[in-house]
Amino acid sequence: SRVAILISGGGSNMVSLVASMAGDHPGRAVLVLANDPAAKGLQRAADMGVPVAAVDHRPFGKDRAGFEAALLEPLLAAQPDVICLAGFMRILTPDFIRRFQGRMLNIHPSLLPKYPGLHTHQRALDAGDSEAGCSVHEVTAELDAGPILGQARVPVMPGDTADTLSARVLVQEHRLYPAVLRRFVAGDRTPVLL
Ligand code: GRF
Repeated sequence: SRVAILISGGGSNMVSLVASMAGDHPGRAVLVLANDPAAKGLQRAADMGVPVAAVDHRPFGKDRAGFEAALLEPLLAAQPDVICLAGFMRILTPDFIRRFQGRMLNIHPSLLPKYPGLHTHQRALDAGDSEAGCSVHEVTAELDAGPILGQARVPVMPGDTADTLSARVLVQEHRLYPAVLRRFVAGDRTPVLL
């Protein structure tokens, strides 16, 4: 399967996904696409030999449809079978999502359905949760709410801050996303639970 990965920043999840597709993996990274030309992940992808592209969302202002039309150009040219959102920080319209429904994944740094949206680690700490983690889900029109394809749990430790907790969760993201993608491209929808 041809896999396109959308990023906004450092792309650590993208690096894990691309590295996992080396060798006899049924998936192949065909494009890394960023909404910021300065995204550090673009150079990391290029260093790994993956084609890259960037469409800066800022010139489009509130024109989400305009931005997405520009994003579709390099994305459709890569003819992806699967799209992985990985640290991609733009909300996509239902029209865009409908084009890829059932073959677009996202990783979210909480144990969904808890804490959709932003600041997930601080919200878990404020709630006094003893556990936190990350989820990979199919992307649907409702934000962070599609079918769960995998979850990984970490303990919340005494003295944790949002930074220490997010670092602990990020390690699990890098294990979970590649495991989910491998099953997904093999047509297996059994949730990965780490
Ligand atoms: C991280 O906070 C991660 O939890 C979330 O997006 C952010 C950046 O991820 N998925 P990445 O390093 O760009 O993959």
